[in-house]
Amino acid sequence: MTHILDSISFGAIVTVRDRLLAQQAAGRRIYRLESGDPSFDTPPYVRDAMLAALEKGLTHYTASAGIQPLREAIVRKVQRDNELQIDDPEQVVVTSGGMHALYLTFCALLDPGDEVILPDPMWTEIAENIRLGGGVPVRCRMDLDSPTPWTAAQIEQLITPRTKAIFVNTPHNPTGVVLSRAELRDIVALAIKHDLRIISDEAYEHVIFDGAQHVSIGSLPGAEERTITLFSTSKSYAMSGLRVGYLVSTDMAFLARVKKLLRCTTNGVNSLAQWGAAAAIGAPQDTPRMMGAVYQERRDVLLAGLKGIDLLSPYVPKGSFFLWARIQPSWRGYRGSRSDEAMTDWLIDEVGVGSSPGSAFGPAGTGWIRFAFSSDTREIQTAAGLIHQVLVGGGRTSARAEADAQP
Ligand SMILES: Cc1ncc(COP(=O)(O)O)c(C=O)c1O
Repeated sequence: MTHILDSISFGAIVTVRDRLLAQQAAGRRIYRLESGDPSFDTPPYVRDAMLAALEKGLTHYTASAGIQPLREAIVRKVQRDNELQIDDPEQVVVTSGGMHALYLTFCALLDPGDEVILPDPMWTEIAENIRLGGGVPVRCRMDLDSPTPWTAAQIEQLITPRTKAIFVNTPHNPTGVVLSRAELRDIVALAIKHDLRIISDEAYEHVIFDGAQHVSIGSLPGAEERTITLFSTSKSYAMSGLRVGYLVSTDMAFLARVKKLLRCTTNGVNSLAQWGAAAAIGAPQDTPRMMGAVYQERRDVLLAGLKGIDLLSPYVPKGSFFLWARIQPSWRGYRGSRSDEAMTDWLIDEVGVGSSPGSAFGPAGTGWIRFAFSSDTREIQTAAGLIHQVLVGGGRTSARAEADAQP
């Protein structure tokens, strides 16, 4: 019998990143559009809070579910900004990034063989964490040609007696789809009808464009009790390396399980990072709003740069910092179901631009490619120009010379 971990991948995006870093180490100019790591510095008031905690010697074990000031700041924030009915710090668990919140949630919620319905495509780690929790990921294909790409009606077709939960991610990685209040309401109605849990991953709550409003599904009538909501400080406050996330729920039995697993795994988050997160979440939310506005500019720079490339058809993202584009069969490197991997490799070799092959995100991603626009605006502009040149005009030699000549 094979071990469950033998069936989990090291991740296609990690492979791309390693190739890019190897080329960078060899002296080549590369463009990091393969993964979503904010280019901003962590805000000064967050760094100051961490330094102050260090000076005060706050470097010892903390309560494993998180320091009290942070959990209190989270209660205030999720009430005010997410309209969640969370009123007790005991309903909050601080985790090592959103990633560990996902792991804890699936492990604490699922019994072996329980099914969780998730969007297809979806950020790779979701299905893998469902499987680590003993569950079965059931992918529900998004229809990006429709104005409502992921609906309750599509989800309902996949419900079986083993379905335990619906996994919701808005804004969505990798497509940038943002679900409206009405769409979320329909998903809540479905969850009530079939008595399902809702797991809501809101890692990109602040990265939302064109004046759209982020709606937390757990705030909708009937969803309060059945929803577990997960957040991350990585994207909102440019704190990805500090590894702070959190989950909130009103289900005390579920939370008790989470706290036991937490105690036996990480036993809490690095104390200094928690003090930083308390400053980030406790402060007025101008910084994440400002970053969201810059991401919108970057989206537009990337879309403008890719305009006129008939070989790529982008989906215009409404949130998150990813541009998801379909590769057209007229691309001369087109290789059927392997075209996305082929284009990812080709863009690295030709112009040193990183991207992620769509198939890494599930079967619906085959033939698509994802570009992250979390790196700085100039880098995105240059990378878009290089992609344009190599796919439309000029071709290999001149584009490569241009890439290598960049400072
Ligand atoms: C959809 C989604 N959820 C959660 C996370 C977790 O982020 P972190 O572990 O850095 O908090 C990510 C990271 O890329 C993500 O894309």
